[in-house]
Amino acid sequence: MLNLRWVDLPGDLAALENLVARIEEHDGHPAMGERKYFHLLDSPSDSDAFPPGLVAEDDGGRMVGYLATLEEDSRLWTVEAAVSPDCRSDGHLTHLLAEAGRAVGNRGGRSVRLWAYVPELARAAERAGFVLERELYHMRVPLPLGERPQFPPEIAIRGFRDGLDEDAWLEGNNRAFAGHPENGNWAFADLERRRRRPWFSSEGLRMAWDGDDLAGFCWTKVPSSGAGEIYVIAVLPGYQGRGLGRALLLEGIRHMHERDRAPACVLYVDASNLPAVNMYRSMGFRHHHTDRSYLGQLRANGPGGG
Ligand SMILES: CC(C)(COP(=O)(O)OP(=O)(O)OC[C@H]1O[C@@H](n2cnc3c(N)ncnc32)[C@H](O)[C@@H]1OP(=O)(O)O)[C@@H](O)C(=O)NCCC(=O)NCCS
Repeated sequence: MLNLRWVDLPGDLAALENLVARIEEHDGHPAMGERKYFHLLDSPSDSDAFPPGLVAEDDGGRMVGYLATLEEDSRLWTVEAAVSPDCRSDGHLTHLLAEAGRAVGNRGGRSVRLWAYVPELARAAERAGFVLERELYHMRVPLPLGERPQFPPEIAIRGFRDGLDEDAWLEGNNRAFAGHPENGNWAFADLERRRRRPWFSSEGLRMAWDGDDLAGFCWTKVPSSGAGEIYVIAVLPGYQGRGLGRALLLEGIRHMHERDRAPACVLYVDASNLPAVNMYRSMGFRHHHTDRSYLGQLRANGPGGG
């Protein structure tokens, strides 16, 4: 039997970081999405603040799971469950989903968006009547690629200039990703939070300029070991369809491989984003796995579909 309680901060933080690291090592996949992780780290620890998630413990009081809970609007909540591999039985996961639904329902939530990173959780969501909402492909390619980036002569490439490029980058990003649930509508604080992460390097954010106008960018992320990641890539609407996306992707990959010796490149892309999926496939990226989000309506006795 697993028991759920609201997370207690900062007291639970060290054990949580430990749990998340163990799950990541086992799954070879981040245990929690970045937005939920920032939500956890940024949450104030005073007793009046609403906790950012639920902790699951076994009967012996061992922490075996964390369910991030993020209020999207007054009715819709995102729930993301990181559960220890030895606690992913049908019974455990079904119980956790029902309890999380109850906790969110008690806070006024009426529906739950659930991100499933492991197949056991996806199956539990489907059994509970959740409906598939969105698929995110994880794609990868071994490096180096044979192809070098080629830009038209009017385009200049340089790294992000701290203190100079913030506004242009934010404006460009928000135009290229208008309406996107995670990448769109970023504020200065969203950019700053990423710039404080250990993986951030200004040079790793490659920017393509047409004179004073930003034409596109490729933001790379190299963790301390392993594959490099295309974190965000975009070409501004007026510059799309002319080969700039391909050139920027090659530029980001060249940078990661030459500077950081990244042995492979990975990225996440919405399955429905055909221009991007086509671009990655045509450059040798292959599908590795799929993350899925599900939508469930809360009923009096827990979550379900319809
Ligand atoms: C995805 C994106 C970066 C592509 O940039 P781009 O400069 O338009 O792409 P390119 O002109 O270099 O085209 C490269 C390949 O992408 C694919 N592609 C580009 N536009 C496409 C479209 N409208 N439909 C289908 N495939 C398309 C093609 O495979 C193309 O190769 P081809 O020209 O040999 O057929 C751009 O559409 C964009 O910024 N979109 C918004 C932000 C975004 O979704 N970023 C990716 C997040 S993972």
